[in-house]
Amino acid sequence: MLKIALPSGRMMKQVLAMLTAVGYKAPTVEDIGRKLFFDDPAHGIRYLVVKPSDLPVYVYRGAADLGVAGYDVLHEERPDVLELLDLGIGKCRMCVAAMKDYTPDTTRPIRVATKFVNTAKRHYRHHAGGVEIIKLNGAVELAPVLAMSDVIVDIVETGTTLVENNLEILETIFPISSRLIANRAAYQFKRDEIVPLVEGLRGNLGDVM
Ligand code: PRP
Repeated sequence: MLKIALPSGRMMKQVLAMLTAVGYKAPTVEDIGRKLFFDDPAHGIRYLVVKPSDLPVYVYRGAADLGVAGYDVLHEERPDVLELLDLGIGKCRMCVAAMKDYTPDTTRPIRVATKFVNTAKRHYRHHAGGVEIIKLNGAVELAPVLAMSDVIVDIVETGTTLVENNLEILETIFPISSRLIANRAAYQFKRDEIVPLVEGLRGNLGDVM
């Protein structure tokens, strides 16, 4: 049985639509409800519903053979997995943002609020004056509003959250999209099941957005 880890939340619907479009009997979001796994015995697939930030762990450890992970999470965690395909969905970007009236002070460490600690550390590794990372788990935009941080390193999709909190982008660090990833061993041993799925998805890229 091929185990595919789906990201819970906003990306799941699009991923399921892509799988359905290439002939897999993927469940709908309604079918899944609060279930954490769902079987399609006809195609020999078990779908697993996983928190996006945890998804690479499931694939790296072989609990899932395949999964769909955002490049933000892959860049942050650097898991030892195979990246098979850029699915072209979930497009956004990793940015540095600050209050509109922010002026840098290079005489002291810059305070960076973020969910993406490794990404922020790498980005600021040569920063004059050093860096102080403030790890948050969400609503990161509040930190500079309250002057708890100088900047944030976070995902920007529409830009609405920044605008509504009087913040602006200072820098784009990298673009993000969702990637199909595979466990290295599974890719060897389940190649006959994985390759047709990958090729099906590749042939349909751009059809489901
Ligand atoms: C993400 C991200 C931003 C927001 C950006 O947060 O961390 O806060 O979306 O989207 P926008 O540019 O379209 O406004 P998410 O909704 O995942 O919630 P969180 O802040 O609780 O992590």
